[in-house]
Amino acid sequence: MEEIQKKIAALSEELEQHNYNYYVLSNPTISDFEFDQKLKELEALEKQYPQFADPNSPTKRVGGDITKNFQTIKHKTPMLSLSNTYSKEEIIEWEERVNKVIDTHHEYVCELKYDGVAISITYENGEIKHAITRGDGVQGEEVTANVRTIRSIPLKLKGNYPGEFEIRGEIFFPLDNFNDLNRKKREAGEDEYMNPRNTASGTLKQQDSSIVAERGLDCFLYSFHSDENEKETHFDSVAFAGELGFKIPLAKNNYIKKCSSIDEIMEFVDYWDKQRDFLNFQIDGIVIKVNSYAQQEELGYTAKSPRWAIAYKFKAEEVTTILEEVTYQVGRTGAITPVANLKPVLLAGTTVKRASLHNSDQIEKLDLHLKDSVFVEKGGEIIPKIVGVELDKRDPLAEKVKFIENCPECGHELIRKEGEAQHYCPNENGCPPQITGKIQHFISRKAMDIDGLGAETVELLYNQHLIENIADLYTLEYDQIMALERMADKSTQNLLDGIQASKAQPFERVLFAIGIRFVGETVAKKLAKHFKNIDALIQASFEELVNVDEIGEKIAISVQQFFQDEKNLEIIDRLKSFGLQFEIVEAENASNKLEGKSIVVSGVFETMSRNELKELIELNGGKNVGSISKKTSFVLAGENMGPSKYEKANELEIPIISEEEFLNMIKGDA
Ligand code: IVH
Repeated sequence: MEEIQKKIAALSEELEQHNYNYYVLSNPTISDFEFDQKLKELEALEKQYPQFADPNSPTKRVGGDITKNFQTIKHKTPMLSLSNTYSKEEIIEWEERVNKVIDTHHEYVCELKYDGVAISITYENGEIKHAITRGDGVQGEEVTANVRTIRSIPLKLKGNYPGEFEIRGEIFFPLDNFNDLNRKKREAGEDEYMNPRNTASGTLKQQDSSIVAERGLDCFLYSFHSDENEKETHFDSVAFAGELGFKIPLAKNNYIKKCSSIDEIMEFVDYWDKQRDFLNFQIDGIVIKVNSYAQQEELGYTAKSPRWAIAYKFKAEEVTTILEEVTYQVGRTGAITPVANLKPVLLAGTTVKRASLHNSDQIEKLDLHLKDSVFVEKGGEIIPKIVGVELDKRDPLAEKVKFIENCPECGHELIRKEGEAQHYCPNENGCPPQITGKIQHFISRKAMDIDGLGAETVELLYNQHLIENIADLYTLEYDQIMALERMADKSTQNLLDGIQASKAQPFERVLFAIGIRFVGETVAKKLAKHFKNIDALIQASFEELVNVDEIGEKIAISVQQFFQDEKNLEIIDRLKSFGLQFEIVEAENASNKLEGKSIVVSGVFETMSRNELKELIELNGGKNVGSISKKTSFVLAGENMGPSKYEKANELEIPIISEEEFLNMIKGDA
């Protein structure tokens, strides 16, 4: 037992160190694969020996804890805000006021003003104890389970940490992760998130911490106080927090700088006003702080904010250009998005040619006319937007922009449902971009992940009338594909193999892939887990649907509408007949179907990792063995099975079965 406990502790420590190397130092020393293997090993041990499970184990990083109601907790000291300014004159005035109070030598620290959500984290005996949002400054919500999933926040500290202390910082959404999330939303036909900060804030309040884990939030710490080990300056405290394992703004990146004069402060401000577009996170200004704690105390506080600090906020960058025309995009769900085509203009480091107009209300609100001179801004949102029109420059004869009434792709009359801002083309099965969009979504990486088939080939196949819906993919024949432009024997075979392999994709992926509006990856997983098979989902009443965790009315209505459509049911029937997975293979579905069987797992698999397959074998009563012998019942082989294993299996006449055959073997009630 002691051995096990030691093993758990050692694995935990090792994994946290790898986390730190990756997320804090950006310097990983093992592969993701190895990391996952070790994490799975730890998970398995914790499951088997729950007495050794630890609330701050690295396994908590993947989330899974559900918080139904976030508790309100009072901050030990209020979380104040900073006084803001948009003008450099006011920085100068502030600095003069500081000089009047502190007439001895003093230093400033300039740092970035991260545009995220403030968080206060308490550590006790080197372990994270609780994390509280800023709330109203006096009290906030306890979101510890969610904060534990943020990989750059240490769960256990290194070095000579104080027994108890609080550290504050800003949780934010790295832009690459934010864009990734929006790409997924787009693929699921859902509305995209507007800005990273609000999304970070919403994410932090998710009840299911595994959703937080998936999204990949990050955090910079900017204030650290403790009664023990107190440093004399803010800068030294931040550096000390770095030694304890926190992700801190690093001097080497110029994210933080000691300055001795107003000129140096301005230099920092100007540098970041230009460079901020190249960061992978958003900042909305610069914070300037007096470095010495003693001097900070001397300067004191107003009712709301410290006198020893000031925030300079950048203006959202804005330019004017000409609106050439408005075009309309048709998404895979039929949603129509108006796009402003602009005379190209340089804005925040990139050439902007287009701006999103969101919907017809937006066009009305701006009262847009063609050839208008428009203000374009790149602020909190990633996509530039038109924020106004220079009315005095408008030609009196200019033509007002009128929202289209018919689909630009298929000509069908558009509809706009009550209470919705978006226009839709309802011609789901006859509008080309909706048809190809649905197929492209179906084959995409997170859906059926069909190798060898890309968006362009889908267009080609559709244009050649070879496919009109997702089920048609499974009827494609060698000669038909071979006849397409740029297709050769190998690429044709690849495509056919990819289509064949997709039949083994698990039910939740199929459910995501069929493209029910508002059913993204996570919702598909929830639905699959709850209803277990497609027939139960088709039969589900509205009440049953909304009773599923995280399924709201909007999703429930959409699911029901989808299955009310005969055409969709027909497609599902066809997909079933082609052998796609329409029921879940569940861990709980333990059986004794493999009882007495010794199984060797070899190669790389399509739908599951080797470890997952091994777990499944055990759950179904089988035994995993490492090498092939006469006693081996069969070899479960993926791609690239080792040649010596292959030979040995043949020699001993041990059956070799595929992943698909294996999954079929353990499912069903036979
Ligand atoms: S220091 C007394 N430093 O800005 C306040 N705040 O209005 C001490 N923020 O709620 C805050 N980056 O969430 C500080 N480098 C930074 C910051 C920062 C962002 C946020 C913080 C606070 C708000 C102040």
